[in-house]
Amino acid sequence: MPFNAGPEMWHIGKTILLLSAFLCSVYAAKNCRCENEEDCKQQYEKDSQSKEVYVFSNEETDVETWSWNSITTLIVSASFDYNNAAQFKTMCVAHSKKRKFGFTVDMTLNGQINVTSNETLQWIATVKSKQAQWHAEVVAINLLPYFKNDVNSSTKDHENLAVLLKNTKDAVRNGSTSYTIQIACIIPWRPPCSEIEEECDFSKLSTDGCDLFIINPESFTDLDGVKCMARATIPFSKLVYGISEYNAHHIPNKQIILGVPWHGYDYTCQQLTNEVCILDHDEKCHYADRKMMSHADLMSNFSAKYLKSDFNELYNAPYFNYEKNDKQHQVWFENPSSLMNKYRLVHELGLKGIGVMYGDDLVSHLPRKMFFDDQEMWSWVNHEIILQASQKPARNDFHYADTVAGVAVGCLLLGTVLGFLFTCLALRKRVKKPKEPFASDRPSVEEFVDEDPNL
Ligand SMILES: *[C@@H]1O[C@H](CO)[C@@H](O)[C@H](O)[C@H]1NC(C)=O
Ligand SMILES: *[C@@H]1O[C@H](CO)[C@@H](O)[C@H](O)[C@H]1NC(C)=O
Ligand SMILES: *[C@@H]1O[C@H](CO)[C@@H](O)[C@H](O)[C@H]1NC(C)=O
Ligand SMILES: *[C@@H]1O[C@H](CO)[C@@H](O)[C@H](O)[C@H]1NC(C)=O
Ligand SMILES: *[C@@H]1O[C@H](CO)[C@@H](O)[C@H](O)[C@H]1NC(C)=O
Repeated sequence: MPFNAGPEMWHIGKTILLLSAFLCSVYAAKNCRCENEEDCKQQYEKDSQSKEVYVFSNEETDVETWSWNSITTLIVSASFDYNNAAQFKTMCVAHSKKRKFGFTVDMTLNGQINVTSNETLQWIATVKSKQAQWHAEVVAINLLPYFKNDVNSSTKDHENLAVLLKNTKDAVRNGSTSYTIQIACIIPWRPPCSEIEEECDFSKLSTDGCDLFIINPESFTDLDGVKCMARATIPFSKLVYGISEYNAHHIPNKQIILGVPWHGYDYTCQQLTNEVCILDHDEKCHYADRKMMSHADLMSNFSAKYLKSDFNELYNAPYFNYEKNDKQHQVWFENPSSLMNKYRLVHELGLKGIGVMYGDDLVSHLPRKMFFDDQEMWSWVNHEIILQASQKPARNDFHYADTVAGVAVGCLLLGTVLGFLFTCLALRKRVKKPKEPFASDRPSVEEFVDEDPNL
């Protein structure tokens, strides 16, 4: 029957793919390369209610030196190779600390995905075998490459993407009954949608596809129609706007993890007047020509500047200027106040947690210890607050946590209130129409046309 040959071949191909993925997983389970074989097993005490603190590694430092009491999950970058012994060991360490482990994988498919094509099945099989090799509890799927190619993504695109992710979830979950593998999708700061709003619907993505959504802190770099100037890595007002847009497109707060940068950026100014650092530009703004600075870099080269930095209340972030080789520079970074405000936002909006990028940023690469030691710095950016506060919902917890962190509550509260006030004022101008909130346990979400370009 020649007409049936195609579909049959097709099923055979599909079976081979699934079978090979399955065999890979069996092989991997019998092949634990950790010193202690137990470390290939999931050891986390399950509590689905609790907040998450994902900490990302970019393989610069030994994760063993990190402060594990405030981490729930270690996520390694897509460049990590299972065959590299040192990189593989990060998984053993995470499990030995009774924490979850995850790896990142880029979404390499694009456009309107054909969910039954060979390419798609191949991609799923690759993710499945990686998950088995890494003994991972979390698969972090980076959707940024997808949305970058598909700037005007439509509802149909999102639906197909959701089916693909659901199939991926089913594939990785199949055969592992002892624990639930989570799919965490890494997304840009605001929904990547065409102008026509009806074309933008992430409801399937949030119910079927991704268990969690991680807002990538590096994604605030689209500057269309915005002045070409240095700015905070996460402008606070944009952050609030982006989250409200996701809410409007059916991604609830309880599924969102806020990525926070622990590094800063050094911008070279073409001109610096009134604290505004104008960047080099032709038709395009070369915003990406900025130099990443880890906290250790800042401490070793700019400790005096760092301690005397200014604080921009609108962006909710500290910065300082310096001059080198006749060039003016502006450095934007994070400090306890700016991080605390982000942690507070996570708490107050009821987000699922934070994703620290990167744990490596705190570890000093210096031969001799500067005036901060690593352990001190971990507790200094005290995100344990998130974990502590989640135990008891009362707001009073924050007072306790604040005291622990040694940060002045009054100042912070004022800062946050001002931050929100400014945000509201700035955004109010462009409010289109209030819409019904789609969940009753959240403050109502309003629709905005666009963020204020002056922010
Ligand atoms: C898909 O895979 C099957 C089996 O591996 C193969 O026979 C077929 O030619 C492939 N189709 C395409 C479009 O690559
Ligand atoms: C999707 O892929 C399958 C298998 O390669 C093919 O038979 C089908 O025609 C494709 N669908 C579309 C809409 O391209
Ligand atoms: C996306 O849509 C905008 C208008 O909504 C249009 O100007 C732009 O060319 C589109 N981009 C692509 C890649 O189709
Ligand atoms: C799960 O794996 C089994 C083999 O262990 C296979 O028979 C079954 O079809 C798989 N289910 C799905 C949904 O992939
Ligand atoms: C710190 O200063 C040293 C010496 O001045 C220089 O070589 C190094 O590049 C600086 N590091 C950063 C991150 O600016």
